[in-house]
Amino acid sequence: MNQRTPQASKAVWLSRFGPAQEVTEVKEAPAKQPAAHEVAVKLEFAPINPADLNVLAGKYGTLPTLPAVPGIEGVALVTQTGSAGDASLAGKRVLLPHGFGSWRQTGVLAAQDLIVVPETVPLEQAAMLRINPATAWCMLNEFIELKAGEWVLQNAANSGVGRSVIQIARACGLRTLNVVRRGGLEAELRSIGADAVVEEGEQLSQRIAAATGGAQIRLGLNAVGGECALGMAKALADGATLVTYGAMSLQPLRIPNGLLIFKDLAFRGFWVSKWFEKATPQKRDALFARLFAWASAGVLHTPIEAVYPLEKIHLALEHANRPMRSGKVLLHG
Ligand SMILES: NC(=O)c1ccc[n+]([C@@H]2O[C@H](COP(=O)([O-])OP(=O)(O)OC[C@H]3O[C@@H](n4cnc5c(N)ncnc54)[C@H](OP(=O)(O)O)[C@@H]3O)[C@@H](O)[C@H]2O)c1
Repeated sequence: MNQRTPQASKAVWLSRFGPAQEVTEVKEAPAKQPAAHEVAVKLEFAPINPADLNVLAGKYGTLPTLPAVPGIEGVALVTQTGSAGDASLAGKRVLLPHGFGSWRQTGVLAAQDLIVVPETVPLEQAAMLRINPATAWCMLNEFIELKAGEWVLQNAANSGVGRSVIQIARACGLRTLNVVRRGGLEAELRSIGADAVVEEGEQLSQRIAAATGGAQIRLGLNAVGGECALGMAKALADGATLVTYGAMSLQPLRIPNGLLIFKDLAFRGFWVSKWFEKATPQKRDALFARLFAWASAGVLHTPIEAVYPLEKIHLALEHANRPMRSGKVLLHG
């Protein structure tokens, strides 16, 4: 055990739910010493994801008891281990668990909750692995047993999840038809493995069919909702599954009766928090082993548009809320 005097450090605090910049503030708090089975950590990087913004707004599947430190994921360095802990953890890079509140410079948590990150994974990429790439992998594997060469249809294809879907699908021998809401993204998405890219809008299902040569598509992944999801549903094969995992347009799914009666489509939902809650430790470790290997090899890579020090949280939140970003906004400790 390494005994040090704890230094004061800063964290973002959420005092009530509402507009992101109004309800958050950076406050100093004395750092704690880890108890016997705990470790002290220092934040490296934490992203600002749409789910974080939804939590600040008070519109998410689970909300913290206030006041709370927000931040669903992040990567940190272990700076100190508790008296009964594994001393070899000191200096290790670790993924922070759900519910810890990653937007803090330092913190103390149970050693058993940590996932150790291999040195070969770039730290910024490690910070973003737990939510989006994990979601992409699960959605490609938990609903339909896809065969090599099959197409997967998705919208918001230039998002963090969308890019992970493209990269993982390519690594697994699947093809992706990618719907985006604006032009100018095709070359970039093709460069990371997309097989076809179409824009949202009129006659979406016909344009999807044309792009795949009329392929039977058994899996659709929807993060948008509204008209875009309807166009995708129409393009799916009889008996296919449309998985909804986000609602970026804030428009509900509108499903004509005929899509159920004549095509027998299945409409499912996915939430990675629930997946982690239910996954066995073996299943969880297998997921991370795969994601770490791909991130180390550069197969999985999420672009970053900006990195802000945690103290500049209001600038970072404003930036993360902007449309048409080229990548994620990260905080560093
Ligand atoms: N259910 C789960 O377990 C789970 C897990 C991870 C993520 N998610 C959800 O997945 C979605 C994507 O997350 P992310 O972190 O990958 O996002 P991100 O990287 O921040 O990208 C946001 C994406 O949404 C698009 N977008 C924004 N407003 C839109 C609108 N009105 N209509 C259509 N597209 C719109 C953006 O397009 P532009 O580039 O054109 O602005 C961009 O492609 C979010 O809804 C998030 O909450 C769910």
